[in-house]
Amino acid sequence: MLNISFESKLPQTEKSIFSKMSAIANEYKAINLSQGFPNFDPDFTLIELVHKYMKAGKNQYAPMAGTPELLQAIKLKIKAHRGLEIHEDQLCITAGATQAIYTAISAVVKPGDEVICIDPAYDSYKPAIITNGGQPISYGLEAPSFKIDWDKFEALMNAKTKLLILNNPHNPLGICYSKEDLTRLGQLAEKYDCLVISDEVYEHLVFDDQKHISALEIPSLKDRSFVTYSFGKTFHITGWKMGYCIASPLLMEEFKKIHQFTVFSVNTPAQLAIAEYLGMNSWKTLPAFFQQKRDLLMQYLDQSPFQVKASAGTYFQLVDYSAISQQVDTEFAMELIKSIGVATIPVSVFYDQAPKQQLLRICFAKTDELLHQAGERMISLNN
Ligand SMILES: Cc1ncc(COP(=O)(O)O)c(C=O)c1O
Repeated sequence: MLNISFESKLPQTEKSIFSKMSAIANEYKAINLSQGFPNFDPDFTLIELVHKYMKAGKNQYAPMAGTPELLQAIKLKIKAHRGLEIHEDQLCITAGATQAIYTAISAVVKPGDEVICIDPAYDSYKPAIITNGGQPISYGLEAPSFKIDWDKFEALMNAKTKLLILNNPHNPLGICYSKEDLTRLGQLAEKYDCLVISDEVYEHLVFDDQKHISALEIPSLKDRSFVTYSFGKTFHITGWKMGYCIASPLLMEEFKKIHQFTVFSVNTPAQLAIAEYLGMNSWKTLPAFFQQKRDLLMQYLDQSPFQVKASAGTYFQLVDYSAISQQVDTEFAMELIKSIGVATIPVSVFYDQAPKQQLLRICFAKTDELLHQAGERMISLNN
């Protein structure tokens, strides 16, 4: 027997619900609407571009913060999309948004610091806080409105609060925060002199002609926020693990100190390919592309016994199954795989302490064919 003694930094961590649900979905040959990634290919143009740069010998380390081509393409995209001027010293290309979030947390959270997360929360936030010695504090949102009560939120803040994490548009709730909400967040961040991570990986997945509001557009937030993005989510390339972070020069300098010694730099041919592809304004078609999928799914859900309010952003749709069953969501999700062969994610897994609500998350980043099949199965619950 090995005689090694050490204390785990993440003793509570077990296999993720996403892997568990997918394993069971495979076992029952169910339609997998649980994991948050597309089951279709990215644009072939993008794939060809990576080949082009690989064949052209662009296969060695990129500069630490990113290739000049990609930094420039991001600056132009933000100018075109939001009318904002971003400087190169505010940018760093990362291995997906997950790395950007982890790096930002590592850069600023010290042992004893408190970090407020809004539950339901994306699963990487709290382990990253704990690994860096911080204490996650959860503010739980509740159905049906999921509105933030800012007085209750403030009651969680104190001199130890170092960081607030917001995800907008929100996975799994499918909501987009208003300017008023973001302004309140900024006021509190200023009052308690703390920093913010604004996780905006679904910035282009907003529907019904809404405009996503970034922390970069809120005066009280723009200089105290790390804003994180994912090319994986934007261009259907989650497996490439490509993203970036924007922050004020002061925060970005600290961010890069960690980035330099953990990742150093990110995939060169992928950066060059994405830079060229961004220049083709490829992101502009995304809202319509995903809205069509949301609407297709909604046509079926409206005929099913699920209660639904159409998602306003992200590629996730929440469904309330309280008219079908009173089981807890983890059990009901399992039951759904076995009864109709559709895998979803129970929303309670995104909470520290889940309120009593009966909600599942469905990912609609799937081919129309698969959405039709899943939709038919969900309608069959009426029988
Ligand atoms: C809210 C949120 N943030 C971050 C990420 C991670 O993005 P990436 O795949 O670029 O690391 C995800 C992926 O599901 C997400 O849903």
